Amino acid sequence: MAGIDDRAEAWTTELRAEQASLTLGADLGPADPSAYTTRRPIPQPMPLDRHGPARVIAMANQKGGVGKTTTTINLGAALAEYGRKVLLLDFDPQGALSVGLGVNPHNLDLSVYNLLMQDEVTIDDILIKTNVAGLHLLPANIDLSAAEIQLVTEVAREMVLKRLLRPVMNEYDFILIDCQPSLGLLAINALTAAHGVLVPLECEFFSLRGVALLLDTIDKVRERLNFDLELEGILATMYDSRTTHCRQVLQRVVEAFGDKVYQTVITKTVKFPESTVAGAPITSLDPSSSGARNYRQLAREVIAAHAPKG
Ligand SMILES: Nc1ncnc2c1ncn2[C@@H]1O[C@H](COP(=O)(O)OP(=O)(O)OP(=O)(O)O)[C@@H](O)[C@H]1O
Ligand SMILES: [Mg+2]
Repeated sequence: MAGIDDRAEAWTTELRAEQASLTLGADLGPADPSAYTTRRPIPQPMPLDRHGPARVIAMANQKGGVGKTTTTINLGAALAEYGRKVLLLDFDPQGALSVGLGVNPHNLDLSVYNLLMQDEVTIDDILIKTNVAGLHLLPANIDLSAAEIQLVTEVAREMVLKRLLRPVMNEYDFILIDCQPSLGLLAINALTAAHGVLVPLECEFFSLRGVALLLDTIDKVRERLNFDLELEGILATMYDSRTTHCRQVLQRVVEAFGDKVYQTVITKTVKFPESTVAGAPITSLDPSSSGARNYRQLAREVIAAHAPKG
């Protein structure tokens, strides 16, 4: 993936030129996003008769507002609908994941901050069962911002989260970590604890800017801290088929990342901001909406990627 920064720049210039020609009536790719990403059928998930060990997936992109939190909530809820036991970890001091699941972060006595910093606090002490069966939450609030500084002096400071998750690894099928938009010590902890990194990319001109830094960071963590860390997948989000550049961006993302791009593309819909206000996943709030269907399909892809082979 070296040189992706340069490619991102060249890309932006190209897209600009194409935009200009589009207004003159040049051929425009199909509006249906699956035309760009479809490769193979996605199987229905098999029911499980036992749970664990968990696949830990970090949602990471240091670019803000690309859909990390929305994906954590709705992929988590969709996985739970398919009978998977899912633990969501709010690893952002903004507490957006907690808010999105109807938890008021200001009212928390104990949160992920206490779990990280106090030896006597366990996962059970802070765990909240959400309204979705099988979907549990470890909530966070602004206290977590202090952890980034306080962790610096810890022994094996990058490994703290990995150690804390160990006791529950066999209870869950998936643990999803909602990272904050930065590549600081909390994000490094998430990448060290994770098996895979899911990178949401907004379908817009500058989406690839900064991705090189993220991929570099993933490489460094893989070399130094977590040899098995994988790029779980790239998820195109906020796709709006009415805008021409969304289609161009999606096409380029597929060119750049090939089959690392999920076949599922998340379309842009106002239902997502609305569901945050309602404090519930879109899959519960509006089960037949396109957003709910998108995240259910993504859940099937994620499950299929880790289904036993053979
Ligand atoms: N597919 C979508 N269509 C429309 N709006 C969306 C979509 N996905 C997310 N949003 C909205 O965009 C905003 C940013 O999304 P989200 O909070 O998931 O991003 P984020 O990457 O977690 O942001 P941050 O970096 O600040 O943590 C939110 O208001 C959310 O409701
Ligand atoms: Mg977020």
